[in-house]
Amino acid sequence: MIGPVHHVGIAVRNLDAAVERYRLLGLALDFVEDFPAAGVRVAFLNAGDMRVELLTPLTADTTVARFLEKRGEGLHHLAFRTADLVSELAQLEGQGFELVDRAPRPGAHGSRVAFLHPRSAHGVLIELVQEPP
Ligand code: CO
Repeated sequence: MIGPVHHVGIAVRNLDAAVERYRLLGLALDFVEDFPAAGVRVAFLNAGDMRVELLTPLTADTTVARFLEKRGEGLHHLAFRTADLVSELAQLEGQGFELVDRAPRPGAHGSRVAFLHPRSAHGVLIELVQEPP
């Protein structure tokens, strides 16, 4: 059973400019982290019980870079909490969801994450997040 929304991911071209813009909405910057394996730099801002994740490509040959090229800046993914990512993935696959990640991968701040393909969620990339214990 997936929990409440953990964060929304927004693809941006200029991370610093985007952070400044979202701070004007009253959101506080929590942290910035690089994920070289995925080719992205992310900034997490606190927004009450959830967060906004701004993400920008580190290089041109990444999925986020291709997303920006094709669709421009904007909503990139929706992330839900889960308490047990491995069993959640198995259950969702059994229900017909197409998994981008067959196994959890490292996420921000020690979390473990996995993505579901937008094809199986009406056009929205879904991320599942399991926070560290
Ligand atoms: Co995310």
